[in-house]
Amino acid sequence: MLQFDIITIFPEMFSCFTSESIIKRAQNKGLIKINVHYLRDFVTDTHSVIDDRPFGGNIGMVMKVEPIYRAVKAIKTKRKSKVILFTPRAKNFNQKKAYEFSKLDQLIMICGRYEGIDERVAKYIADEKVSIGNYVLMGGELAAMVVAEASARLVPNVIGIDKPQILEQRVTKEKRFIEYPQYTRPAVFESESGKKWRVPKILLSGHHEEIRKWRKKHSKKI
Ligand code: 6GU
Repeated sequence: MLQFDIITIFPEMFSCFTSESIIKRAQNKGLIKINVHYLRDFVTDTHSVIDDRPFGGNIGMVMKVEPIYRAVKAIKTKRKSKVILFTPRAKNFNQKKAYEFSKLDQLIMICGRYEGIDERVAKYIADEKVSIGNYVLMGGELAAMVVAEASARLVPNVIGIDKPQILEQRVTKEKRFIEYPQYTRPAVFESESGKKWRVPKILLSGHHEEIRKWRKKHSKKI
């Protein structure tokens, strides 16, 4: 069982994600669990303050270290547990990382807002920093969904594969994006301009060996 614990100031962003069919079924089957935690619930002072002005002065606000510290302390309960912080400054997430995360008992994800988060979160609380690509988002929430989905599908039985060896094989294969183009009916689709979009003839031929060769050739090309 892989448990995801997401710490965020926008918990509603996760409601569709956690109730989507495959993720929902995986949770119902007890293969994964996704807990979304509202950062404000871990604040002690009466004003529920989660951010403050930056030392040294500047525009904008900085997320405080204490609420995040308290949240992680309360949430971290499993043995094989990892705490990650989302930031565009980190190394990019990839399939190998997803496979590594899929073998944990617990993945705690801190969604900071990009404009500022006290550096002590990165330095002392997070085991790892993760980015999902070379562009800047407004916060870590979308990144958390990306990482959770990529990792969850590599947990045995989530997508109907129960053998860790096959999932591992998938990791190495998916690194090279091995998938051939696929088609379904109709064999000929006529677009509005009158142009006909055809399925490659070989796939309609019924020659299994030829089809196998065609697929292999096109997987390599992709
Ligand atoms: Cl993890 N966070 C933000 N704010 N921007 C990003 C990112 C993460 N990954 C790519 N861009």
